[in-house]
This record gives sequence, C-alpha cells and structure tokens, in this order.
Amino acid sequence: MKDLLLNDNNTTPQIGFGTYKATEDEGIQSVKNALKAGYRLLDTAAKYENEVAVGKGIKASGVPRSEIVVTTKLWREDLGYESAKKELEESLRRLDLDYIDLYLIHWPANARNYDDWQKTNADTWRAMEEMQTEGKIKSIGVSNFWKEHLEALFRTANVIPAANQIEFHPGYWQPDLTEFCKKHGILIESWSPLARGKVFGNDTLQKIAHNHSKSVAQVCLRWILQHDVIVIPKSTTPERINENIDIFDFTLSDKEMDQIDNLPEMGFSGELPNIWPDRL
Ligand SMILES: NC(=O)c1ccc[n+]([C@@H]2O[C@H](COP(=O)([O-])OP(=O)(O)OC[C@H]3O[C@@H](n4cnc5c(N)ncnc54)[C@H](OP(=O)(O)O)[C@@H]3O)[C@@H](O)[C@H]2O)c1
Repeated sequence: MKDLLLNDNNTTPQIGFGTYKATEDEGIQSVKNALKAGYRLLDTAAKYENEVAVGKGIKASGVPRSEIVVTTKLWREDLGYESAKKELEESLRRLDLDYIDLYLIHWPANARNYDDWQKTNADTWRAMEEMQTEGKIKSIGVSNFWKEHLEALFRTANVIPAANQIEFHPGYWQPDLTEFCKKHGILIESWSPLARGKVFGNDTLQKIAHNHSKSVAQVCLRWILQHDVIVIPKSTTPERINENIDIFDFTLSDKEMDQIDNLPEMGFSGELPNIWPDRL
C-alpha cells in the first residue's frame, strides 16, 4: 500500500475507512477492527454523529495517534467564518483529539441555499486557513465541490484545497471534475466507492471479478486505486473490513480499466452539489 502526497506536503494512505451510518456502538468496534486490519485513514463528519465513537475506537485500538490520518467535515448548515471556527472546536472535543489531519467543507454553499454562496465559501475557507496556521488542522480540503465552486474559491483562497471528496464509483465517477482537480494538484477522494452495493449485480464487474478470483467490491476499489484516487469504503462487518483492504495482490489491465470507465450510469446517489439538499 502506498501513501499519496498532498499538495501541502502531508501524506495520506490511499485506502481509508468510511463511517457514514455507523452508529455509536458499531463505530467504536468497527474503527478498532479497521485499525487492526491495517487501515490508517479514518473518515467521519460532524453530520454522522459518530465522532465520539471514532475517537473512542482510536483510543481502544492502541494504535498511536500519530500513525492515523483522521478526516472530519464541517456540515453545510454551519458554513461561515465564526461558525467554522466553533464547529472545528466541537469536532475536536467530540473526537477527543488536539488536531485533525484533514478537515473538509462537507458540501459547498450554493445559490439555492445561501444568498451569497461565493462569500460564504470564501469566509469559511479563510477560517480554515487560519486554523491550519494555528496547527489545529494539518490539511484543509473540500467535498462535493464542482468546478464552479472551486473556481470561485480560487479567487480569494491563499491555500489550494488538498483534497476534494466526491461521489466516485463505477457507473458515476465525474471524470471531468477529476481531471480538473488533478490539474490543480487537488487529490480526489472517492465516496460511496461501492455505490452502497448498487453496482454489485453488474455483469461486466462480475466477469472481471471472476477472472481475478476477487469480489466485485474488491474490483471497484482496485479500479479507484488505479485512478490514483483515495478510497474510503465503509463496513461494520469484520469480514468485509478485511476484504476491502485486500486489494493489493492483483492489477486490472488497461482493457479492464477502460471497460469499467465506460460502464453506463448506475448507482448514482442523486445528491448534486447545486440542488441537494433542496433547502437548509
Ligand atoms: N463527503 C460526502 O458527502 C460523503 C457522502 C457519502 C459517504 N461519504 C464517506 O464515504 C464513505 C463510504 O461511502 P458509503 O458509506 O456511502 O458507501 P460504500 O462504502 O460504497 O458502501 C457501504 C455499504 O456497502 C456495504 N459493504 C461494504 N463492503 C462490502 C463488501 N465487501 N461486500 C458487500 N457489501 C459491502 C456496507 O455494509 P456493512 O456496513 O453492513 O458491511 C454498507 O452498506 C462513508 O462511510 C463516508 O465516510 C462521504
């Protein structure tokens, strides 16, 4: 497993562990299991209401804090300069940590939800830049930002986002946005890499999985790795936690990569940065 270099010279493992929908109890145990299985990147968010569990899971694992890259996110109803500062403190308190490795704006302010969405994102970002300088955050990034949100942010930002976490799985992988981010040195992180199971019945994926004696889930994750994208599958099932990190002993051919790249749209969550959710 290789680490990837962020544009601020910090590094991140390429595979991490997602925690969306993991409850408090599941969260502690699954984080412990994930760290035991070798994951060293954890993904949570204020909105998931499981930061306390993630923090407890880290402590219970016995893995030194310095070896773990912890990501959490600022929810879209809490955007703004003062609010971002307050919310980071809340996340630190819930996680019981004194710094966050990667702090993301979970969803951009957009024209439907904020009167002046560019200013809201810019003010939030300025707060994040300051908290990075203070050492409370190592890397700052965004999530679900489209080109229009990034271009607006670039006009006032002093720091280019280190990462953009977006929906990215076979059947919906936003290649234009991925290319744009790569051009600007922004690492892409894939959320819902398994499309929450919605792509498992696809024939092409099943055939490729069969050829490599791997599961469809492993093929999805491997395809993402080979795009140089960070991947954060979620599972609270111990066998699947192990299965999802067991993807370093096979390689998809160029032809297989191409076949997966060109699958028809499937598994899309329906969550669009400009129209979801409809209102605050
Ligand atoms: N930034 C954002 O807006 C955003 C949005 C969505 C997600 N995320 C992040 O990305 C992470 C991953 O996305 P996700 O949780 O939406 O979806 P996902 O990882 O694509 O899928 C998770 C689902 O797949 C199941 N699963 C996991 N591994 C499996 C395997 N090997 N075989 C069969 N089923 C398997 C899990 O079940 P069990 O748990 O029951 O095993 C769970 O129901 C999240 O947890 C969260 O951290 C971020």
